[in-house]
Amino acid sequence: MSHVIAIDGFSACGKSTLARAMAKRLNYRFIDTGAMYRMITLHFLRNEVSLEDEGAVAGALEGLRVDFLPGSNDALLNGENVETEIRGRAVSDFVSPVAAVAAVRRWVVPQQQAMGKAGGIVMDGRDIGTVVFPDADLKLFITADRETRIQRRIQELIAKGIPADPEAIANNLDERDRIDSTRQDSPLRKADDAIEIDNSSLSLQEFIEVGMAEAAKI
Ligand code: CDP
Repeated sequence: MSHVIAIDGFSACGKSTLARAMAKRLNYRFIDTGAMYRMITLHFLRNEVSLEDEGAVAGALEGLRVDFLPGSNDALLNGENVETEIRGRAVSDFVSPVAAVAAVRRWVVPQQQAMGKAGGIVMDGRDIGTVVFPDADLKLFITADRETRIQRRIQELIAKGIPADPEAIANNLDERDRIDSTRQDSPLRKADDAIEIDNSSLSLQEFIEVGMAEAAKI
């Protein structure tokens, strides 16, 4: 079987970790759509694109390529491996305003839909079950309490050798959740038919098993 599995949720709640693990177990492709918005953001920062300038936004998107290195899934911006750079503070602080721009979403969503057309995909983000794949075979909505999410993100960044200031991280997660949930275009919300999983008190292994148990039902 070749299903489409959509995983959405708030910042740093473990979506990508679950999506990656489930894709591996199911032998499906894993797509981290957050990384696509992060790559666009890095490109805009490098080229000093003003979000208010529609022409500049359109120009910056023209000819841009965001994809993933086969195997490792590292983020590739015009062929350049930017996996570490997109996780840093500069991109994290600017990504939600960029992702709220309708022209950006109009450019990237059809690419995500094309990636999932043949099925056999686990895609995680904010609007996968609501906008990108409203007919997904399985929709999971992941939550975890705020403190757990902050601590996990700190550990994740330290493990990657990226500077992690606890206060800045907490502020960033709060601010992104606020912008992502209140924007006009494709706000973060649980799809009516999504299954909610709160992983605050689950180990990583337990969390993956809960996700896999849902996948086994489809
Ligand atoms: O991993 P983390 O929770 O930090 O976030 P991410 O998945 O890397 O997403 C970064 C940002 O991209 C989010 O805060 C959203 O602003 C945006 N995003 C989005 O708008 N729609 C998606 N499908 C995925 C991400």
